[in-house]
Amino acid sequence: MGLGIAETAAAVGGLQVVVIDVDPDQLGSAKEKVRASLGRAVKGGKLAPDDGDDALERIEVSPDLQAVSAADLVIEAVPENLELKLGVMGEIESVINSSTIVASNTSSIPIAELAAVFERPERVLGLHFFAPVPVMRLVEVVNALDTSEATVVAAREFAERIGKRPIMTKDRSGFVVNMLLVPYLMAGVRMYEEGFATREDIDEGMRLGCGHPMGPLTLCDFIGLDVLYAVCDSLYEEFKRAEYAPPPLLKRMVASGRLGRKSGRGFYDYADSERSQPAKPMSAVVGER
Ligand code: CAA
Repeated sequence: MGLGIAETAAAVGGLQVVVIDVDPDQLGSAKEKVRASLGRAVKGGKLAPDDGDDALERIEVSPDLQAVSAADLVIEAVPENLELKLGVMGEIESVINSSTIVASNTSSIPIAELAAVFERPERVLGLHFFAPVPVMRLVEVVNALDTSEATVVAAREFAERIGKRPIMTKDRSGFVVNMLLVPYLMAGVRMYEEGFATREDIDEGMRLGCGHPMGPLTLCDFIGLDVLYAVCDSLYEEFKRAEYAPPPLLKRMVASGRLGRKSGRGFYDYADSERSQPAKPMSAVVGER
């Protein structure tokens, strides 16, 4: 998601962006991935070809966090793991200046916990994006206990500048969207787990019956089952409501590395599929039947 945020900030907001990653492979392929995505934007008539080239030039990639020391805004978008995020936030705190705003793209970790790492927690908040970032219009602006009004105003202005529609939410697990979306997705997983209907029929039901762009199981694969598991866990931990508890099948799929599109296998098999092709059904049925 970090790359999607960088692309949107550079292409729509016209901003200078630095992408930081510790993984040399990810860094090495970052610009190519952004180039490919910008190419889709150009092809779809969303961006002039020259603007795509200019946007790419505004994106720098670096393994060194010092490269963001003069940034007005740093957005953390590392995997959904509290220890990892706390460590990264500590590193960010050690390089930024006193006016830098720091945002987390977390979908479930309390912003207050991340803000506690900082000397100026009033400059920390959540900016929760949705995948694919260049396409989805929403950003949740998460107002944590210590976030100042000035920080919220600046974050909203940033979201609007990059073409997003900000909505405000309190610092509660799931914020607005995941609190509504995740119980629905988990109901789809439980329905499949219980053998109520095939995965294709569950997905077609919501796609054709309700006009959703993707059915729930395809969307689970798209988001990543590990991400959803972490969000479920966090929602359940916070509210102790049964609808948030991760279904047993989800837990086992994550344990066996079936994480969805990113691992090539989830509820569907993606081994040969292109990014935007519909998922190919697996030959074997996933589940405990
Ligand atoms: N910049 C701007 N626009 C772009 C673009 C880019 N880089 N790449 C593609 N587009 C545009 C295309 O031009 C196209 O526009 P039109 O519809 O006007 O023609 C549109 O985006 C769709 O692009 P594609 O044709 O490549 O893809 P698609 O039609 O197959 O749709 C999809 C793919 C957008 C993913 C769609 O299936 C969808 O909306 N799925 C649901 C996604 C969703 O629910 N996301 C939220 C997940 S929850 C989350 O992220 C948060 C969390 O915490 C878990």
